[in-house]
Amino acid sequence: MAFNKKTIEDVDVAGKRVLVRVDFNVPQDETGRITDDRRIRAALPTIQYLMDHKARVILASHLGRPKGGPDPKYSLQPVAARLSELLGRPVPLAPDSVGDQVKAQVDALSDGDVLLLENVRFYPEEEKNDPAYAEKLAALADLYINDAFGTAHRAHASTEGVARHLPAAAGYLLKKELDYLGNTIEDPQRPFVAILGGAKVKDKIPVIESLLPKVDTLIICGGMAYTFFKAKGYEIGKSLLDDGSLDFAKRVMDEAGEKLMLPVDVVAVDGNPFGGDPDALHAETVAADKIPAGREGVDIGPMSVRAFTAVIQGAKTVIWNGPAGIFEIDRFAEGTKGIAQALADSGATTIVGGGDSAAAVEKLGFADRITHISTGGGASLEFLEGKTLPGVAALQDK
Ligand code: 3PG
Repeated sequence: MAFNKKTIEDVDVAGKRVLVRVDFNVPQDETGRITDDRRIRAALPTIQYLMDHKARVILASHLGRPKGGPDPKYSLQPVAARLSELLGRPVPLAPDSVGDQVKAQVDALSDGDVLLLENVRFYPEEEKNDPAYAEKLAALADLYINDAFGTAHRAHASTEGVARHLPAAAGYLLKKELDYLGNTIEDPQRPFVAILGGAKVKDKIPVIESLLPKVDTLIICGGMAYTFFKAKGYEIGKSLLDDGSLDFAKRVMDEAGEKLMLPVDVVAVDGNPFGGDPDALHAETVAADKIPAGREGVDIGPMSVRAFTAVIQGAKTVIWNGPAGIFEIDRFAEGTKGIAQALADSGATTIVGGGDSAAAVEKLGFADRITHISTGGGASLEFLEGKTLPGVAALQDK
């Protein structure tokens, strides 16, 4: 479906107070240090465009899931610091997201200035899409730009409610995400290959249903694969099983026929990979239908990597969502690394859909060689499922 919403270039921003919803929900370590600033960097083109075009930029975001009120643990202060570094100029953090003090700070902005509002989720009204809170946010600005693709699947006050009160258009990141995840997949260059991994089949049922008719090959790997093995009647030992999805797995195998590829070998261990030192476990590569009882599959094996690589090499479009194994543990990251390497080496348009697979590609150092890495986890999945994203629907049509 063609993108038919107004974008940042369709509205006049000079001298205007522009409220920009960004997704600065970035991972942090225990000390508050940002461990992955990709979402901040991804919003820079929109912010820079607004600064260059003399807008007064008011950035709004959530961070984490604070419960019930302000909590310093979820302050956007570290984000303000990182954004200041990236823009090469100080970006002050307002003490709140609405109210008189914030209003005064906004009034004091000059053309080209940037202000970051404090975490919008310090108000429970945000997630309730409370009209009064949305109105207060809207009162700060003349114009609304949504660039928060990662939060576009949430109908919250700062992503949806606010668009009812202001002229509302898409930022560059939002548009880019929708172009890649939408157009590329609706009308793909073929062969089109989808690789779906991750733990639970249940979470991926809608995306499997939506992608299966469109793809030439569907590769299922990661924790999900063991439910398919079980449905084939294989012994899976202590590997992950999504009992409630066995019938679905059987149906997919029937419908997909030759289109479906499952791993042919797996790495199986003799204990709980999260139960202590994973290096102390005995790990063995076995055929997918020969997992010993009592063992747990934690990664795909080298034959599977080779088979998947061959298919990826012949593809013109590849979309990947979900790791092939427990990639957080280095020992069990080989399969995920193999897929990332195959995507990086391929001449195809390669799209990595958010969440864990995006983190894996970053961690393994392949990010620069992927055509598009989505900044959305849940949002990219919902979009690929074919759902309407409320944050996009709320924007004005062209
Ligand atoms: C995300 O990280 O997926 C988005 O920022 C949305 O966060 P949420 O799941 O807490 O709404």
